[in-house]
Amino acid sequence: MTTEQVEFTGTELLQSHDYQAPLETTNGVRCHGGFDEDGTYVSPRTKHRVPAIEAWEGKRVEDCGTPPLEAPLATWPEHFPNVAQTTFLLGKGVPQPMISELTRIGTVEGFGAMMRHLPLPDFQVIFDDSIAGTATEHIRKGLFEAHSRDEAGWEDEAGHDRMWYAARDIAFENPATEDQTQAMLQRMGITPAGGGVPDFQKLREAAIAMRVLPNDIDFDLESMLNRMIGLLFIEISAFHAFAWAEEVLRDTDLTAGGGEAADIVSYIRQDETPHVGYLTVALSEMRDRTWVGRTGTKYDGEEMIQLLWDKAMSESLFARRGDFLKLISREINNAIEGRADRDDLMDEFWPLGVVQPTAEGWVETRPGGEQVEIPAA
Ligand SMILES: [Fe+2]
Ligand SMILES: [Fe+2]
Repeated sequence: MTTEQVEFTGTELLQSHDYQAPLETTNGVRCHGGFDEDGTYVSPRTKHRVPAIEAWEGKRVEDCGTPPLEAPLATWPEHFPNVAQTTFLLGKGVPQPMISELTRIGTVEGFGAMMRHLPLPDFQVIFDDSIAGTATEHIRKGLFEAHSRDEAGWEDEAGHDRMWYAARDIAFENPATEDQTQAMLQRMGITPAGGGVPDFQKLREAAIAMRVLPNDIDFDLESMLNRMIGLLFIEISAFHAFAWAEEVLRDTDLTAGGGEAADIVSYIRQDETPHVGYLTVALSEMRDRTWVGRTGTKYDGEEMIQLLWDKAMSESLFARRGDFLKLISREINNAIEGRADRDDLMDEFWPLGVVQPTAEGWVETRPGGEQVEIPAA
């Protein structure tokens, strides 16, 4: 039996360390997190959350002996455009695609806070074994709330959305007014948050029509798992975007601020680690369990999770990738539209990366060398 603490209150899971100094950007944004006496950045709300994730994983391995679910970063392609392509564009006086992308990332991060509104099922009735002392049990007891606060901020502390905007404003010296930001987001097909809680009933009906698990299983569970697996893949694949942004923003010949924007991105990246952590442990716990349907029929959790996992993976690697390539390509075209050398720029741009345009969409060379076709629609 593990002797480590595996039961936590919501208050504990939301508690931060006592910082020696707060994180405040030079452009005046007070952010979450802070620094310890050595000047090391410490992520917000991790005083108990990080040891809790470790303890739950320890208990899971002790109880089930299985390896955790894994989605290696190399499953996903590098960021588009990559560092060489972005450096090339910046060198040619085309910063707008990167400004747009930083704005898009910040906005999408802020959407992460919607997870606190997700309808959650009663977990215990779904699983044959007790979920006491698991990450699954704590999803509704602080984990989703901590995640939401990390992404969109809490009280007077900025979260990831405003931290990305701060990094952008430092690196590109306040490149966009509020109106320009809205126009940018609209071009990229994003309606900013702030319109309140989405219409979950409507989303739910559409999602029920697409469900992959047996009807016997509570749809709220499937819906929540779709969200968790989708988020896990976004969180992991985003490390490519972080590496890209950090490398470009660290280059003081290309961007302003002496590397501060890159530092901010590195803090955000650090904050993402517990997100990947708890999602992985909770999903692995549910995979390890026997599920009970409404009629009392039992299901193998491994089969159930695999069905959702495969669907989400295909969406992430193809449909979502296609949407992404489309919107970023549009931003690049938009930025160079009026230039006489636009065709020459693109002729130089494409060979620097792993994505090549075709008549129907793109061909991308994936890590490992596989060439995949990605349709534009
Ligand atoms: Fe985030
Ligand atoms: Fe995150």
